[in-house]
Amino acid sequence: MTTATPPPPALRLAGISHTYSGQRRRTTVLRDVDYSFERGTFYTILGPSGSGKTTLLSLASGLDTPTKGAITFDGHDLTTLGLGRYRNKHAATIFQQYNLLTYMTALQNVTTAMEITGAKPPTGSRKARALQLLESIGLDKAITARNVMQLSGGQQQRVAIARALACDVDILFADEPTGNLDEDTAQGIIDTFRDLAHQQDKCVVVVTHSQQLAAQSDRVLTLRKGKLTEQTTSAR
Ligand SMILES: Nc1ncnc2c1ncn2[C@@H]1O[C@H](COP(=O)(O)OP(=O)(O)O)[C@@H](O)[C@H]1O
Ligand SMILES: [Mg+2]
Repeated sequence: MTTATPPPPALRLAGISHTYSGQRRRTTVLRDVDYSFERGTFYTILGPSGSGKTTLLSLASGLDTPTKGAITFDGHDLTTLGLGRYRNKHAATIFQQYNLLTYMTALQNVTTAMEITGAKPPTGSRKARALQLLESIGLDKAITARNVMQLSGGQQQRVAIARALACDVDILFADEPTGNLDEDTAQGIIDTFRDLAHQQDKCVVVVTHSQQLAAQSDRVLTLRKGKLTEQTTSAR
């Protein structure tokens, strides 16, 4: 009899600790964090301000390396796979501060990201795909032709979301993505995240303060005192 080995999780954090070393003191933000994130699942991470949520996302998205422990994507260590390759091909991040290219239009921000990561739309041109995504989250054509510095915070946030969605990746990270959005737009974004996980088998990991958002995710995690724990359904 043969027993099939289950596939490795999309993303595994194994014994992750992280310490920032300042000139005068060291701050340990994460302590022995162990967790496996799977495809087809929409996760939210809650936690008080300063608890290390952004730090956790920056490690999981390959922007920084943990002081201790290992992070694997489909069983491959990120440092062996290459952080640049991981960020280009496998993981997209919607940052708290948007990180848009300020000298470009909204549309150019999205098409440039597609060019850099080599994302090819299923049909049509990159520009057509970018316009479709921008429109689907409420930015009309006239707005997408504007320089991003001429857009409101909420509009910039939507450009950042469209940019991440345009890159065909396995894992999508977002850091408080609905913070600057009105309730209707925020709900549209939550629906998009859920569809990406459930219809397109992506792994979606969202840091949020919103109980409304967390209640609609499949698994709710809490980061507190350097530890990541999962809430059981009955506690929700
Ligand atoms: N680059 C850094 N250097 C030193 N300390 C940092 C740095 N980034 C974050 N911190 C500290 O790490 C802790 C966690 O920060 P952060 O991950 O941004 O938390 P959160 O996103 O949950 O608000 C805070 O005490 C913060 O001051
Ligand atoms: Mg943060």
